[in-house]
Order: sequence, then structure tokens, then C-alpha cells
Amino acid sequence: MTKSNFSRREFLGVSAAVAGGSLAARNVLLSQESETLPTRRAAPSDTVKFGMIGVGMQGSGLLGTSIHLPGVECAGAADLYDGRHTLAREIVRPDLPVTRRYRDLLDNKNIDCIVAAVPDHWHRQVVIDTVSAGKDIYCEKPMSHTAADGFAMVDAAKRSGRIVQIGSQRVSSQTCAKAREIVAQGMLGDLMLVEGWLGRNDPTGAWQYPPPFDLSPQNLDWDTWQGDVVPKRPFNPLIFARWRCWKEYGTGVAGDLLVHLISGMMFMLGINEPPRQAAAVGGIRHWKDGRNMPDVHGVVYYFGDLPVYMRLNLATEMPETYRIQGSKGLLEVGGSSVSFTPQLGIDTYPSYYTGSFPRAMREEYLRRWHAENDEKLARLPPQESISYRMPDFDDTRPHLANFFDAVRTRKPVVEDVVFGHHAALACHMANESYFRKTAVTWDGASGTIRS
Ligand SMILES: NC(=O)c1ccc[n+]([C@@H]2O[C@H](COP(=O)([O-])OP(=O)(O)OC[C@H]3O[C@@H](n4cnc5c(N)ncnc54)[C@H](O)[C@@H]3O)[C@@H](O)[C@H]2O)c1
Repeated sequence: MTKSNFSRREFLGVSAAVAGGSLAARNVLLSQESETLPTRRAAPSDTVKFGMIGVGMQGSGLLGTSIHLPGVECAGAADLYDGRHTLAREIVRPDLPVTRRYRDLLDNKNIDCIVAAVPDHWHRQVVIDTVSAGKDIYCEKPMSHTAADGFAMVDAAKRSGRIVQIGSQRVSSQTCAKAREIVAQGMLGDLMLVEGWLGRNDPTGAWQYPPPFDLSPQNLDWDTWQGDVVPKRPFNPLIFARWRCWKEYGTGVAGDLLVHLISGMMFMLGINEPPRQAAAVGGIRHWKDGRNMPDVHGVVYYFGDLPVYMRLNLATEMPETYRIQGSKGLLEVGGSSVSFTPQLGIDTYPSYYTGSFPRAMREEYLRRWHAENDEKLARLPPQESISYRMPDFDDTRPHLANFFDAVRTRKPVVEDVVFGHHAALACHMANESYFRKTAVTWDGASGTIRS
């Protein structure tokens, strides 16, 4: 046992009788219903008709959720793979109009807006075409595949005046709303550091999806699917199903998972700007299946002067978690819980450093310390840690509802094109730093990522 350990224990024992601000714990169960969800049936004139572009893993879920929102109807679906026309009809109705050409939906005057869940390399074109056709769009995250794509999308959205909602649905969760409230009330004091992490550990979590059995150039427009990526590749079902593994189509764990952590953090802290700097480490450490995107990716950022440390791992499972650290306490945010533990940030016991004083000096220090502090500490109100639980809360439904409501009312959405652009830039900086093997900075004047 070291001397300072002994002293600390000794002093803690001495001060236990006088320390105020003792910590109690409170648990609160929040109800499942969100205030943002419309519950009444909309009048027929209020009905929003949408077209679905991309009916894959995410699009099929968005489609099924959207059609169960009051006053929302699907008027058609587009996908380059015919099997997904069948799927769209199974989800909506057997006679749903389906097409391979998404522009057919944009030309349809009965369609008010679009929900798009196409791979990342198609986001720019789909968003620009949709807003240029005078329609609003919900587009999946990450908003852009490159920084330049993001600028083009922001420009097109601003020029058209159409609504763009980006699909990082965490920002519509009850957890993010509660955390944002706690931060806005100043309960954390000065923000010191934000940490966030997420890990998975199974082939599906690492994107090794099974391609549909019947996929062929006859039922998939493979040439269009590849977009403007060069060089064009021969038909490859693995690329179709596992496009996230390659930077030509996807944005890696940064665009797939980090973007959720970043968007949630920006929302909770009221940040709407790209990071100033990013420095990443990582590698293809486990899933050596021909991918060119890392399966482990850790990034240290400066958002303004706030240090932020995010880490993603596809070969060790870790539930998605934030630790927002402040001078007055710690806020932990999980998938369905938010916990705040207050901290006084003052000495509630005599400094253990004085274990290094000779006895007479130490006794004098203790005498003075107790005379100055005991009464003050005894008067401190009890501190209370508080945990909120949100059982099985679905954030996609309120996020979609927020979009359809905006289409109806023209009120701003929760995650617009500028917010989406900034969150995506943080992901592009994480990737650029990883590939360039050096820290990168955001140059706002030229709109580029610099080493
Ligand atoms: N918000 C979330 O939690 C979440 C979850 C998963 C995926 N996503 C995002 O959703 C998007 C789609 O991901 P996915 O896993 O569903 O991919 P997917 O490959 O399963 O589905 C994409 C579909 O889009 C179709 N498509 C591609 N280009 C098209 C085009 N030009 N016109 C019409 N259809 C086209 C494909 O044929 C395919 O059926 C991605 O941007 C992804 O990052 C978001």
C-alpha cells in the first residue's frame, strides 16, 4: 500500500461524518408514446403520397413503417432489382405501381415526396433529381458519399426550397431528446470530452449479407446500379449485397455507424458544424474478405474546442453508448437509457496530498480544513443521480413522421440538409484521415479536407 493510498483512505474516513452532498439514485420510466407522433387519422385532403426509391434492407423497413403512419400513402416504388418490386407489392398492395426508373416517380404529379434508401453512391443524384423535380425527400444517411457531393446537395436543396430530411433516426429518439434537455439545462457544467462507441461481432453485423438467390443481369439493371463509379465491374452479386465493404459505393463504418453517433451527439449538444480536425486509427483486422474499408475505426476530433473520441469495431460487440463528460457530472446515453450522475467538482475531504506533511503540519492542516469546510459541506443538498429508461423505443417511426408532417405543414425537419452535410463531413474526415494516415482538418473557405 502506498503512502498516498493510506492517506486517502484515512482522510476519507475522517471526512465521512461531515461530507454533505451524498448521492441518492432515482429511476424514471418514460412512456413509449412520443409527442411527435401524430395519432389522429388525417383528413383525405391531408394525405401525403410518397414514392419509394430503393426497397432493400433499409428501404423495405421504411416502406412498411411509413404506410402505417396516419395520412401517409405509398403511390409507387422504384428499384433496379425486380425482386424488390415483388417485395414492395407484398408490403403495400399487389397492384402498387413499380418501376426500375426512379424518374417515373418524380414525373408523377400525384406523388408529393420521396423516401429514398439507395446505396450511398446514389444519394447525390437521387436527392438532386428529386428536389429539382419540386418534391421533398427523406434520404438515408450518410447524406453524402463525398464532401463535394454534400455541397452539391445543399445547393440543390436551397435553390429548390424543398424539404430534405436525412435518415439518422437517433435524433428523433426519446433518449436524444432527454439528453439534449439535460445538456441545455447546463446540468453538465462545462463540457470536457465526449466519447462514443459501437461494436458488433458477427458476419451480418460486418456486412457479409447473402445476395438474393436469383439475382442476375436479367432481373437487375447492374449497369445503372454502379452509377458513375469507374471502372465499371462485371456483374457481381456480392458487390450488390455487400456494397458497404468498398469505398467506391459505401462510406465504411464511418458512414454506416459513426454517422449515427455523430448525428446524435450534434443533436444532443446543439452543434451544427463540421469538426475542425480529425485523426483516425484503424485497419482491416478481422474481416479479410476483399473489402477495402476498415473494420476497426477510432477517431479523435475537435468540434470547435471540444475533444470528441469515437470508436467503431466490427469484431467485438459493444452496445452503442455515449459518455458526455462535464465539470458537473457524467451523462451516459445508451440505446434506451439516459443516466446522469452529478459531481460537485469540489473537495469533500481533506487533500490526501497532506499525507506527505510531517505530523504537526498535517494535524494543523486538518484542523483548519475542518473548520473551514465541515459546516459548508453539511449544508450541501443531497446529490441525486437519475436514470431514464425508454423501453423498446422505435426512433424510425417518429423520424419518418417528422418528415411527413413537415411535407404537410412546411415546418422545418429535425435533420435537414445542412445538418446532414455536417454530420457526413465528420465521416468523410474520419475516412480521409484513415486512408491518408495523418490528421486532417476542415478548410471551410475552400470546402475541402486538408492534411
Ligand atoms: N438509418 C439506418 O439505420 C440505416 C440502416 C441501414 C441502411 N441505411 C442506409 O440506407 C441506404 C440503403 O441501404 P440498404 O442496406 O437498404 O441497401 P440495399 O442494397 O439493401 O438496398 C438498396 C436498394 O436500392 C436499389 N437501388 C440502387 N440504386 C438505385 C437506383 N439508382 N434507382 C433505384 N433503386 C436503386 C438497389 O437495387 C437495392 O434494392 C444506405 O444509404 C444505408 O446507409 C440506413
